[in-house]
Amino acid sequence: MFALRDDDLERSILGCGDGTASFNAEVTAQGGKVLSVDPIYQFSADDIQQRIRRVYPGMLSQFARQADQYVWRHFRDPGHLGSVRMSAMNRFLEDYPSGLQAGRYVEASLPELPCFDGEYDLALCSHLLFLYSDHIDLQAHVEAVLELCRVAREVRIYPLVSVDGRVSQHLPAVVRELGERGYDVGMERVDYQFQKGANDMLWVRSTAAPEENTDD
Ligand SMILES: C[S@@+](CC[C@H](N)C(=O)[O-])C[C@H]1O[C@@H](n2cnc3c(N)ncnc32)[C@H](O)[C@@H]1O
Repeated sequence: MFALRDDDLERSILGCGDGTASFNAEVTAQGGKVLSVDPIYQFSADDIQQRIRRVYPGMLSQFARQADQYVWRHFRDPGHLGSVRMSAMNRFLEDYPSGLQAGRYVEASLPELPCFDGEYDLALCSHLLFLYSDHIDLQAHVEAVLELCRVAREVRIYPLVSVDGRVSQHLPAVVRELGERGYDVGMERVDYQFQKGANDMLWVRSTAAPEENTDD
């Protein structure tokens, strides 16, 4: 969904709103550097696991009921989706205690991240901004994306459609605002598509020249 190449995985990465995804565990196991931030990291592994168990059957039956809104290519059917997602969550849960200790999972919420300016090469944010456009207003989108741009030299966001499958109503204004502030902004078609119409990601790059080293 982020068109990641092998060399991207060698960059320092911020995963914003990573939730119970296994990305951090997998990249860390390959020797990469990822910080995941999410408000749910205030909870223990047991609390998160219990919540997953409680909500998961309902979520899966919802996918099955609304099957025509999805492209069944990466996932063959709702059962396959369930087993892939459950193994990713288990991978996350196994990694979470050691990741918390190592500071790889940090409780934080947009629009304020506990990171220095330009600390990360790449910030990734999936299934949060644009998807929940009916709950997160335009100003909150702009503030969130600017915060991601503050802490990372490149930002990628996926998907760009909201829950109803239509392109987010906030996308044009967010792109315009970023352009006016001097960022390079573009959209790229990606391989991954599950929700129908969700096959583009937004990328934003800082155009500022890297600071020159003035040390003699
Ligand atoms: C639908 S989940 C997506 C999880 C993961 N990115 C994925 O694609 O599997 C949305 C996540 O965003 C997190 N979240 C909600 N509000 C947030 C905020 N203001 N800042 C950062 N993360 C937030 C939620 O806790 C949740 O884990």
